[in-house]
Amino acid sequence: MPERIFIFDTTLRDGEQSPGASMNIEEKIRVARQLAKLGVDIIEAGFPISSEGEFEAVKAIAEEVKGPVICALARANREDIDRAWKAISKAERPRIHTFIATSDIHLKYKLRISREEVLERLVEAVSYAKRYTDDVEFSPEDATRTDLDFLCKVVETAIEAGATTVNIPDTVGYSVPEEFGRIIRTLKERVPNIEKAIISVHCHNDLGLAVANSIAAIKNGARQVECTINGIGERAGNAALEEIVMILKVRKDLCPYYTGINTQEIYPTSRLVSAITGLPVQPNKAIVGANAFAHESGIHQDGVLKEKLTYEIMTPESVGIPTSHIVLGKHSGRHALKERLRALGYELTPEELNVVFERFKKVADQKKVVYDEDLIALVEEEIFRVPDKYRLLNLSVHSGTVSIPTATVQMEVDGKVVMEAGFGIGPVDAVYKTITKITGFKGMLLDYTVASITGGTDAQGEVRVRIQEDGITAIGQGADTDILVASAKAFVNALNKLEYLKKRKLRGI
Ligand code: KIV
Ligand code: ZN
Repeated sequence: MPERIFIFDTTLRDGEQSPGASMNIEEKIRVARQLAKLGVDIIEAGFPISSEGEFEAVKAIAEEVKGPVICALARANREDIDRAWKAISKAERPRIHTFIATSDIHLKYKLRISREEVLERLVEAVSYAKRYTDDVEFSPEDATRTDLDFLCKVVETAIEAGATTVNIPDTVGYSVPEEFGRIIRTLKERVPNIEKAIISVHCHNDLGLAVANSIAAIKNGARQVECTINGIGERAGNAALEEIVMILKVRKDLCPYYTGINTQEIYPTSRLVSAITGLPVQPNKAIVGANAFAHESGIHQDGVLKEKLTYEIMTPESVGIPTSHIVLGKHSGRHALKERLRALGYELTPEELNVVFERFKKVADQKKVVYDEDLIALVEEEIFRVPDKYRLLNLSVHSGTVSIPTATVQMEVDGKVVMEAGFGIGPVDAVYKTITKITGFKGMLLDYTVASITGGTDAQGEVRVRIQEDGITAIGQGADTDILVASAKAFVNALNKLEYLKKRKLRGI
């Protein structure tokens, strides 16, 4: 009989720890709703003690998102646990996830406490969390570099104190499948009360083994996996949800397990997370990359045309990748637009549809065909992007072989209209210098990339930028048929995200 694997999604917590990624409260709620639609079992909504904004986001998700267990992270101390509980107490099914490091490296250099003190602190934390809820998860941070005998003792003690899930993190992505599988098997065999808890795993991808390690752990007794959409997360990221789920689905012969994931929601979720965090999905990324189902070589194309099974181990439809690409043009009406948006997962109010339709008409006047990708960029920008502090109103640029590149920018700053002009070495430089003048940005532009959303010279350009100020990095994106407008939008989006990140700057955590 296949066994159930519980999917614990930490996109909103560990995923948000990706350098530059940030989501505001509305964006987090949207992602959480989509995760519920995807069918994840547990949503780790955040780390409430880390900032006021984080607390509010976790609270809102706990109150509004129904279906999955809503989990909040807390270090092993009362203040963190109180804050976590306050944020999730209204959830249908709340969970507190508390953690403390257990490896000698962390004990000696970070916590400066003994193994005995770790055991005392974890008992205190788990039993304190237990006063609030029955559903308590405990993680020994840096478990894979923890002495295995001590790890067994830690896990036994946590379960004795009331933990119902024990999560084994490969915090620094150091382990390899054989070793990680052995650690999980040892816990299964040697911890006397292990049957009273679910074994979970949480793998980082520093050596590119997060998914392989998670699968090895499942085969050795883990029944919960912690993962993120597109594999985003601290440093090299976490195990990618979509890869784990599809491995279990496609290789049932070797992996007799199943999940509650609605796999057709994988691609829409991937797109949403990428659009909101500003973290692009690499084209060759398994399952959700732009090339994941593209057959380039003639031999492969010939094979697929004769029989898909020759080179396809799963269908794009099974992970929710739309197969029809050409959709709308300038003669398309409001109804056609509404239907197409619905198929892409956007249920808009009549007012929102009006706004999108106006912009759609402008794009359709400039381009012969408006593709799904154009529509997604358009809806994200018009409806879901919170303008926050800065808003671009108008832009005009002069450049060419003889003239000095000059930009005139009109913006709204905290609701007040401001206008400036400036020069630059090139037109983008002129635009960015002028926006910098208006906003007083003192940081650096780390990256600037422009790519066309679809093919053709009439394609919309999508610009992504990474900026940094006072050690805080923010990513912004913007799309338009005019790449200078797209560049300005991306910069303004990054500046808004920077403002947000400054406000929620982690309190030394
Ligand atoms: O990687 C890690 O160890 C973590 C813990 C908080 C579970 O994210
Ligand atoms: Zn982690």
